[in-house]
Amino acid sequence: MYEVFEYTYNWFFTEIMTQSVPFFRPSIGQEEQDNILSVLKNGWLTTGIWCKKFEQAFAEYIGVKHCVAVNSATAALHLSVIASGIRPGEAVLVPTMTFVSTVEVLYYHNIHPILVDCDPKDLTMSAQDARCKLLQAREKGVRVTGVIPVHYAGKMVQMDWVESLVEEFDLKIIEDAAHCCCSKYFSNRHKKWFKKCPTSLTQCYSFYCTKCITTGGEGGIVATDSDELANKIRSLSLHGLSTNAWERFSEQGDAFYDITTLGYKYNLTDVAAAIGCAQLVKADHFTKHRIQAVAIYKKFLQGIPHISCLQDEPEHFLHSYHLFVIKLNTMQTLVSRDQLIQQLKIKHIVTSVHWKPLHLHSFYQKQGYTASSFPEATHAFNQIISLPLFPDITEEQIYHVVNTLKKLLTGG
Ligand SMILES: Cc1ncc(COP(=O)(O)O)c(C=O)c1O
Repeated sequence: MYEVFEYTYNWFFTEIMTQSVPFFRPSIGQEEQDNILSVLKNGWLTTGIWCKKFEQAFAEYIGVKHCVAVNSATAALHLSVIASGIRPGEAVLVPTMTFVSTVEVLYYHNIHPILVDCDPKDLTMSAQDARCKLLQAREKGVRVTGVIPVHYAGKMVQMDWVESLVEEFDLKIIEDAAHCCCSKYFSNRHKKWFKKCPTSLTQCYSFYCTKCITTGGEGGIVATDSDELANKIRSLSLHGLSTNAWERFSEQGDAFYDITTLGYKYNLTDVAAAIGCAQLVKADHFTKHRIQAVAIYKKFLQGIPHISCLQDEPEHFLHSYHLFVIKLNTMQTLVSRDQLIQQLKIKHIVTSVHWKPLHLHSFYQKQGYTASSFPEATHAFNQIISLPLFPDITEEQIYHVVNTLKKLLTGG
């Protein structure tokens, strides 16, 4: 007990004395601790009733028929791709401005990613370039059967244009919603707000430690309205076992199971789901705090030269602000983006970059992509910085970040 106290004390003390600002700190309270304890006392640690509870609560929260809890968004995307019926040799549109998970799950099955440039206003996938890539593929006889839009930083892609494209080119949609949780978009087509696009097969969430809510470090969920997809994904997530196999140790469950397909070990544990249940109750509260923090950031950032924010368009989107990304006009600043990140680090302010687009990574360059193939994403990459943001960030911390930025940028 004393060691824990000493560690926590030292950590806080260091943070206060150095005015350090972490990039992210999860908000874990008594509720998470109580739930964990309840699982530990109950004695069933892996997939069980807490996973079921979490899945039901999350499905209700998003407004979908089914959720299947898994151990990461990467697993959620992988199983969605398999269950969708997209086949080896086919191609899928994906933004280059994304984390590698969105694309690696395609490579696992010899499905070809077709990378798409981004829209500079909010860094989501460019509607114009997506259409252009589909027409080029059609001309070359490449069979494109899917699209994975990525909801960037907590702002969803305007799915109306994706739905139009899907109708025109007969595509399946899998949403990468790793950065969302509380996000919504207003559909002009359907005249409604949506958390999940009604046409998408599945939507894949991440509960990694820095995300909108966490299941204790790692975790994910697949949301779907399809009974068939939910059953398939559930089975695939646990070795292809018949779907109620986890109940085999209970009095009600059958001691025997059948292996119905080639599967994976992607199930979530009850310990993780119990943390998720406590976090989900607070999800809207966390979002409210992140939105307030961004408003404070924007107020302090006003008047600082060479910095701009991405468009959030609140009349059409509920932005959950998993990340707060700013753009630096590096043509006019004293320091480059990389120097700025380094200098902020020296001053104990931790920032990040989301992301170095895929086409600039060596693996993808070996596939023939060049910087000039995606001019918007290449340009944006040199300008973007994700500033510290988490529900409990204080006004003083935000002021300290902005003030330090200002001094470094203006030499003041
Ligand atoms: C857009 C996007 N998709 C997928 C993932 C993968 O999430 P996970 O770490 O839960 O597998 C991430 C992770 O940061 C992400 O940013």
